[in-house]
Amino acid sequence: MDRIAITGGARLNGEIPISGAKNSAIKLMAASLLTEEPLRLTNMPRLADTRFLGRLLQRLGTEVVESDGAEGPETLLTTREIVSGFAPYDLVRQMRASFNVLGPLLARSGQAKVSLPGGCTIGARPVDLHLKALEALGAKIDLHEGYVYAQAPRGLQGGQVEFPFVSVGATEHTLLAAVLAHGETVMTNAACEPEITDLAECLNRMGAKVSGAGTPTITIQGVSRLSGATHAVLPDRIETGTYALAAAMAGGEVRLTRTRSDFIQALIDKMVEAGVEVTPHNDGLTVKRNGGRLKAVEITTDPYPGFATDLQAQFMALMSLAEGESVIRETIFENRFMHVPELGRLGADISVHGGEARVRGVESLEGAQVMATDLRASVSLVIAGLAARGETIVNRVYHLDRGFERLEEKLGACGAQVRRLKGDGGEEVE
Ligand code: EPZ
Repeated sequence: MDRIAITGGARLNGEIPISGAKNSAIKLMAASLLTEEPLRLTNMPRLADTRFLGRLLQRLGTEVVESDGAEGPETLLTTREIVSGFAPYDLVRQMRASFNVLGPLLARSGQAKVSLPGGCTIGARPVDLHLKALEALGAKIDLHEGYVYAQAPRGLQGGQVEFPFVSVGATEHTLLAAVLAHGETVMTNAACEPEITDLAECLNRMGAKVSGAGTPTITIQGVSRLSGATHAVLPDRIETGTYALAAAMAGGEVRLTRTRSDFIQALIDKMVEAGVEVTPHNDGLTVKRNGGRLKAVEITTDPYPGFATDLQAQFMALMSLAEGESVIRETIFENRFMHVPELGRLGADISVHGGEARVRGVESLEGAQVMATDLRASVSLVIAGLAARGETIVNRVYHLDRGFERLEEKLGACGAQVRRLKGDGGEEVE
């Protein structure tokens, strides 16, 4: 298994181009099930998760062709017909967003059998809201032996979908199903994340009639068919925020390009409060920090436009070296502090009580072997390693490969000492 070795202490100076958003790309790829015409996605990130979903879509009948276009990596997805409506446990378990093929399969072919995803390391993550929404659109849902059997033989019908709390996945899933339903669907208390707006824009390019995306009320007038389209995946706001925090942690000056600063305003506000210089520009933002300790600040994760839960671990790494005590409240997932003991191995002083972590800033961190259980936790350890004395080795790099494209290369180009240790022989010693 590959590992990442980081030798701390180098300041970061240079430019990092941000890739297309993983969490948008995988929902946009699922949208290709809704039409027999080609969907061309540009600015595609090349990640383990997108490759993985590509393989699942191929089993369902999608032809997936990756290429390098004038605007960077692109993927052409063509689903002339759905050849199978079955998504097995082994695949959905490995990447839970695979569950979102259920809605489009149902909308296009009237039936699907998709495995329930089960829990994961950051929380139980049920899919009850997804299933209730599909039922509100007239689907008949039965659960047997860990599978969802869904049917809508005469097609889905528009309906009222009122979410009791905000769910990104359930909002996207409802969109992916309702665009081909008969009549009007109104979603209330919908998620407002930029990835929702991106999906709605792509669906509208395909001929859907979605309005209100990016606000809590989304209205969809169902259409009888969708066509192909070309759509550029929006920039990855979590990758943007992660490298912004890496620059703040290591010190130096890094320009993040091909992205949008407004997507991470809540993070920028907190970074500025802590003492980091952040300058937004047309193509992204520049993050600068020269010497001096940062000030501890408090954060509470919230749905967009609040502070993203996917940046909580990385922000905690930054706070581990700040002056004073920072309180970090996680409100989205019940178990998203798995990085705390690992940051502790590097010398951080953090205690957790329920959904609240108290981070007492220390003067310095020291490199160590660490292991992480999810994507964002892993990258928080990389960020901590950039500022730690000596060498930090992050195990289980496959988590990072799910969501960060060419991480070593991007950080290395700014002067970070980051290298991959190949698991098959090479420098690996387990
Ligand atoms: C998406 O997960 C992202 N994943 C997550 O990023 C992100 O952390 C999360 O949104 C919140 O921003 C993808 O887009 C693939 P939710 P999702 O439904 O859609 C509960 C990463 O690292 N809930 O908004 O699964 C749920 O358990 C990942 O890239 C129900 O109870 O998140 C959670 O507590 C990790 N029932 C809360 O709602 C449901 O039916 C919000 O989850 C659905 C969700």
